[in-house]
Amino acid sequence: MKLWGGRFKNEESKLMEDFNSSLSFDKRLYFQDITGSKAHVKMLASCGILTEEEKEKITEGLNTILKEIESGILKLEGDYEDIHSFVETNLIKKIGNVGKKLHTGRSRNDQVAVDMRLYAKEKALEIVNKMEALQQVVFKLAEENPAIMPGYTHLQRAQVVTFKHHMMAYHSMFSRDIKRLEDAVDRLNENPLGCGALAGTTYSIDREITTKELNFKKTVDNYLDGVSDRDYIIELISCFSILMMHFSRLSEELILWSSKEFGFIEIDDQFATGSSIMPQKKNPDAAELIRGKTGRVYGALTSILTTMKSLPLAYNKDMQEDKEPFFDASDTVLKCISILIEMLGTLKVKKETMLKAVKKGFLNATEAADYLVNKGMPFRDAHGVIGSIVLYCEEEGCSIEDLSVEKLKEFSSLFEEDIYDFIDYENSLKKGIKKLML
Ligand code: ARG
Repeated sequence: MKLWGGRFKNEESKLMEDFNSSLSFDKRLYFQDITGSKAHVKMLASCGILTEEEKEKITEGLNTILKEIESGILKLEGDYEDIHSFVETNLIKKIGNVGKKLHTGRSRNDQVAVDMRLYAKEKALEIVNKMEALQQVVFKLAEENPAIMPGYTHLQRAQVVTFKHHMMAYHSMFSRDIKRLEDAVDRLNENPLGCGALAGTTYSIDREITTKELNFKKTVDNYLDGVSDRDYIIELISCFSILMMHFSRLSEELILWSSKEFGFIEIDDQFATGSSIMPQKKNPDAAELIRGKTGRVYGALTSILTTMKSLPLAYNKDMQEDKEPFFDASDTVLKCISILIEMLGTLKVKKETMLKAVKKGFLNATEAADYLVNKGMPFRDAHGVIGSIVLYCEEEGCSIEDLSVEKLKEFSSLFEEDIYDFIDYENSLKKGIKKLML
């Protein structure tokens, strides 16, 4: 079933029909397509291009189609070229010839552009909402666990931090993810309807009416750009990619921390799986899958960037390839957020193991150097003195705080009894700017 054919002598090949058809995936756009059409018809009537009666009939027909799709009476299948032909053909079947007036002053090029912008905006805002829910879970987990833990650089124990502060690092990343998505939505919030195929239309339409009706901020400035711009899809998938990169870092930490080697956390059984051969195994599959799916979202970004590369203006059929990567990437992100919300909400933090790791790691070496600096030693010299103490302790199998003042004095006469308080882990967190971690 086609919306064209007048200028063709031969039938389209079956193979081509199938190759060309996008209904199997753009059927998701049925709501946006019908919403866009209703706004278009309303505008056409306001501009005197359709009569009020025609508008009523078409709108009623569109509403019926929407209801029938949503109740499952009308199945989104068949040999239609795309969702636009599906809706239009079914409209004509339902209301007869007046349905043929729906496409007045419009092309599928501005139609698909408006559908995708509406869909992309909705999805991005849905992701923003879910990210805010995830942030709340992260915040709660952080607040409930101000326990001290080793902080790492190069994945080597570096300085003491708190689990709370560590988790709040992700909270900060997620705030940026949200802001990035909101910024992208702000940029895409322009109405392409009325651009026609590429050069507007000879009818005296009013683009402001559909702009208001569809809740866009403004109309696009340029017709050619309006129908061929897919920046917003690229931008949103870039935002998703950065967000997934953050998720993959968090997942990697959850995987490491839940291993016997770290033992800092316990992932709830609900989000782990066992091994078919090794009875003792509990695998952090949910976190591994999030880490793995990051690659899939990056793939979507590469796909859309490559599709758009070098395309001449304006619309080209290549652009039909924008949909599957966007659908897949946004679905993936939403699924990952849902899993993270549940997994972090049920996470157990093992503060004793973290404390043990802190004690074994010379995590107060920097503070010990600061102590000497406070007593007047230049930092570079203090760094050297503490370095020798660490070497000594490693040989002796003890920690800095285990050494007596007499022993410490062998390394520097500046050490006094107050060193122990100064390098005490809890105390050091209470000092200066570090208080932020508590
Ligand atoms: N299915 C098409 C797409 O997603 C709709 C636009 C078709 N336009 C055209 N000139 N054939 O891009």
